[in-house]
Amino acid sequence: MSTTPKPPIPGLAPDAVPLAGPRFHTDPGPLHRELRQRHGPVVPVALPGDIPAWLVIGYRELHHVIGDSALFPRDPGLWNQWPRVPRDWPLLAMINRRQPSIHYTVGHEHKRHVDMVVPALEAVDTFQLRRHAEEVADALVDTFCGQGEAELIDGYAGLLPIHVLGRMIGVPDAECPALAGALNALAAGGDDAVAGHQDLGAAMRRLVAAKRAVPGADVTSRMLTHPGGFSDEEYVLDLAAVIAAGHQPTADWIGNTLVAMLTDDRFAASLTGGRRSVGDAMNLVLWEDTPTQILAGRWAARDTHLGGQRLLAGDMLLLGLQGAHGDPHVRYAGHPHTGGHQAHFSFSHGEFRCPFPAQEIAEIIARTGIEVLLDRLPDMDLAVPPEELVRRRSPFLRGLSALPVRFTPSTPIRP
Ligand code: HEM
Repeated sequence: MSTTPKPPIPGLAPDAVPLAGPRFHTDPGPLHRELRQRHGPVVPVALPGDIPAWLVIGYRELHHVIGDSALFPRDPGLWNQWPRVPRDWPLLAMINRRQPSIHYTVGHEHKRHVDMVVPALEAVDTFQLRRHAEEVADALVDTFCGQGEAELIDGYAGLLPIHVLGRMIGVPDAECPALAGALNALAAGGDDAVAGHQDLGAAMRRLVAAKRAVPGADVTSRMLTHPGGFSDEEYVLDLAAVIAAGHQPTADWIGNTLVAMLTDDRFAASLTGGRRSVGDAMNLVLWEDTPTQILAGRWAARDTHLGGQRLLAGDMLLLGLQGAHGDPHVRYAGHPHTGGHQAHFSFSHGEFRCPFPAQEIAEIIARTGIEVLLDRLPDMDLAVPPEELVRRRSPFLRGLSALPVRFTPSTPIRP
């Protein structure tokens, strides 16, 4: 019986690499080396449904892409694959069409949103933020410190950022657990992701209404006073963007740093010796185990060449942040205790990078969360062998599914 060869899929290179499978989330370093050898710094990949894209894993090429927002805007509206994307495509929550928010606008419209959101973040009182992060972290540790064992993703890292960010934007403390549930469902990308998305929108709508009625000293109230004529729907979308962009990577930064500190000999001293090298471990993680390992994306504004590949107008580029960090041209080789340089791309770069005040907020929450744990559970150790730790099954967001630890039980600090 003869089989008819399948017709080629438009835009999909015959040697495109499926962007799926455990190698993308277990130990991607060797995979990136192989891809670099076979394809160079810009790799043709196939997304679910054989949708083509380019994965940029060269440091110089990535710097070029995120530094040139005219040639490579973050504008999904340009995508030449929209006619092939099914309505139930699994990545639609991440790669949305244009939307009037800081995440999905370009040019003047993006600047208009940045000018409203960023000053509201800049005005956050960082001392108060740190104090609140400490309070939340202590309250979470109180829930398990007497038991001698705990699971630190669902029970700690996955709760701390949303509680702190929630208060920062003005969400009542009592609503934060539900918000954490919605965001964690969204990040997991499972069946309840759509419901998580709707719950997040509903919570932000309630927040905007509440702050219009009674303003407070919070990010939302400051955003609402901006004279730019924003609609309530725009505020809702921007607040959802801030919370969604902020919670998961900060949670994963905490989790990934804890694993580094519990498994990497270079940090053995810091567990017993206290806080000395928490900052070093956090910086190392941004190089070697970064929370956003692949980011979607940028779109070519016209036909061009990049890293030896020919790109057509409207092609999508995926930012291979983790892959670029492993590029032999820049390989970070600093010993953590001698202080590493910070030219990583974990917060991106250029026009669409993570805003500087947001980076500081993330740093304060993550560092406080790690320091409180080390103070409260100084002999904490993994409860399973390191090779049994399971990573989230996502090529995009890099974090642990669970982090079981054990420690000497202690009494809660609050009755
Ligand atoms: C470890 C923590 C974090 C990481 C790794 C991270 C990473 C990033 C990255 C890579 C981008 C750029 C996306 C792109 O280039 O297309 C971004 C954008 C953004 N991040 Fe963060 N982020 C973190 C925490 C936060 C926090 C805590 C907030 C809010 C308080 C925040 C708010 C934002 C916003 C609003 C944008 C969109 C900026 C724009 O489009 O102009 N991020 N983040």
